[in-house]
Amino acid sequence: MTASRYVDFAVREARGVSPLYERLCLAIARDDDLLALLETVPADKRQPNLLLGVVRLLGGTVERFEAFHDFTVANWPAVEAGLRSRATQTNEAGRCALLLPVLAGLPQPLALLEVGCAAGLGLYPDRYAYRYRGHRIGTGEPVLDCDLTGAEPPDRRPEVAWRAGLDLNPLDVTDPADLAWLEALIWPEHRHRRDRLRAAAAIAAADPPLLVRGDLVDDLAALAARAPADATLVVFHTSVLYQVPPARRTAFADLVRSLPGHWISVEAPDVLPLGDLPAPPDGALHNVLALDGRPLAWTRGHGQGMVWW
Ligand SMILES: C[S@@+](CC[C@H](N)C(=O)[O-])C[C@H]1O[C@@H](n2cnc3c(N)ncnc32)[C@H](O)[C@@H]1O
Repeated sequence: MTASRYVDFAVREARGVSPLYERLCLAIARDDDLLALLETVPADKRQPNLLLGVVRLLGGTVERFEAFHDFTVANWPAVEAGLRSRATQTNEAGRCALLLPVLAGLPQPLALLEVGCAAGLGLYPDRYAYRYRGHRIGTGEPVLDCDLTGAEPPDRRPEVAWRAGLDLNPLDVTDPADLAWLEALIWPEHRHRRDRLRAAAAIAAADPPLLVRGDLVDDLAALAARAPADATLVVFHTSVLYQVPPARRTAFADLVRSLPGHWISVEAPDVLPLGDLPAPPDGALHNVLALDGRPLAWTRGHGQGMVWW
């Protein structure tokens, strides 16, 4: 089970995106020592991204499997503590390129409320620049590249009147420890994503969002009630619901449908009931972009591409 999870991650998420992680996860899947250690933590703490991020945060290497193995075994108490206390909180500003085609078409201005916001870097779609297959929108850094097919690229950035985030553990981009965790979660070869994180963090630090510690079911309605009434409320989330138990996902979907405004989700196809979906473009893991529960496009994990239906 744990082994197949690492193989699946290697083949469907890392292949073609991070050769280092692909090789490493295939090797972990064959290693009895590491599998036995992983079996000692709860199933949701055995996630490849979490293990790799924790080991890198502790100073371990992911370049060579033997060194990774020896570091992880020798430092298991610290690795285990990291797995138990942390969750994957990758905060990828690039996912705003997936939201923009929908955000640009809604009545402006917008009141953005992101659930599972991590450090809130998804709350600045109006400040980033975009390049959809050469079609440029906006100026400055970071520039979010997205290989969009099947739809015309958006022609404007949204107007944002209010931005707020909700997370079980909000991160602060001005705190060096939080920034180190966010960097450890970026895959090793992805220098462009590290540059993007720093550029997006500078934008957030200059105009910090309202970030609230809380649960996406228990605390959403109270935060939504703080949004200005003269803006279109947009509740959105990207790569969050896989961390939420199924019954709570259903409660969340029911709740968000009861709120005014719109709901945008970018999530794995198995976490929300979205009806029949067309076949994905290939065997890689694709998420589904949906507006108000209506599926619209397949999307890649870090915002690097989307196929509109
Ligand atoms: C993988 S991160 C994605 C962060 C951000 N949405 C992005 O795409 O860059 C998932 C985030 O969801 C948060 N989260 C998980 N369960 C949650 C819950 N029940 N309520 C609020 N936030 C939650 C985690 O703390 C984490 O920051």
